[in-house]
Amino acid sequence: MASPSASSTKTKTESNEQYQASLKNIGVKPQSGTGANIVLVGPPGSGKGTQSNRLSEHYKICQLSTGDLLRQAAQDKSSDEGKRIRQTMEAGGLVDDHIVMSLIDKNLTKPECSNGFLFDGFPRTINQGEQLERLLESKQKRLDAVLEYAIPDELLKRRILGRLIHKQSGRTYHEEFNPPKESMKDDVTGETLERRSDDTTETLNARLNTYHKQTTPLIDFYRKRNLHKSIDASQKVNDVYQQSLEIVDDFRKQPSYKPLSVDEEQGSVRQMETSVERNDFDETLTIKTKPINNQIEVDTSSLSKNFLFVYNSVTAVLRDRGII
Ligand code: AP5
Ligand code: MG
Repeated sequence: MASPSASSTKTKTESNEQYQASLKNIGVKPQSGTGANIVLVGPPGSGKGTQSNRLSEHYKICQLSTGDLLRQAAQDKSSDEGKRIRQTMEAGGLVDDHIVMSLIDKNLTKPECSNGFLFDGFPRTINQGEQLERLLESKQKRLDAVLEYAIPDELLKRRILGRLIHKQSGRTYHEEFNPPKESMKDDVTGETLERRSDDTTETLNARLNTYHKQTTPLIDFYRKRNLHKSIDASQKVNDVYQQSLEIVDDFRKQPSYKPLSVDEEQGSVRQMETSVERNDFDETLTIKTKPINNQIEVDTSSLSKNFLFVYNSVTAVLRDRGII
């Protein structure tokens, strides 16, 4: 994760050979080929930042974390926009789409992104997803894979409340799962580690709520475009990493990606209902058709977080099997 003071697009200095060698050392099977366009979707603490550092190094692509870019923008104490961004982040809500999109637009043109990009925590709404699609189309680019880091909310509290960051470098530690060698000190520089100001129980609850309400619809959005795969993010860091590589490489092996047309997309979830109406006045029959949605319509905002997790998992399996 990049620091607010550092740029969030990373310049790669390590050669691919060196990196492949380092992967062997930690027992991760090396994969071939660089360059990919990846989206990471997942709740706070699911490991997006942790994995995106590694994945962007592996594929030699830029890492764009909208969280990091916004934290950087929020540091501008003199502007109203900086203040609004800060307040929204502290409250666990989502920053306005137009601010986020302009950050993406600006950063995507950087030379570090010429070999591909990894979006960490972007898009977060259907609107952002649609705007990204148009932006990429205008640049004649496309996404290769959308990885969802799925994990029950209960496990996230420990991860978030135990997180320690080294702001200057973006290095992330965890009191319990990945402690620094010396308490509260960065392993490399010895500088003091900090906590993120939104890593409190109260803001975490708001962030989780925002994720379930506004971001999870994106999973269906990308499933319909044949780009989505879910990974169990409660596994060890290396296991999540290994599976992420396998999935991205599988998607990249597909000869060509073609998004579903609107008709195909609707056909995959809808059938037509036909009704016949008789008009006694002029003795004519009118045949009417209307699309029916064979997806289960549920107002997910009324579900508890735990039940919502189960609901999303079950509907994902049913959809994958073509049952709904
Ligand atoms: P952002 O910075 O993206 O925060 P987030 O989505 O809440 O995610 P986190 O960064 O907290 O978690 P992570 O998934 O990166 O986990 P990490 O790898 O650090 O966004 C912040 C805010 O900015 C948002 O709330 C919103 O206001 C705004 N924003 C951002 N993007 C936006 C957008 N597109 N539109 C509108 N607003 C936007 O891991 C967490 C901890 O767990 C670490 O300590 C790590 O060491 C540990 N850990 C990681 N993986 C494992 C593992 N497998 N096992 C054990 N521990 C692990
Ligand atoms: Mg992060």
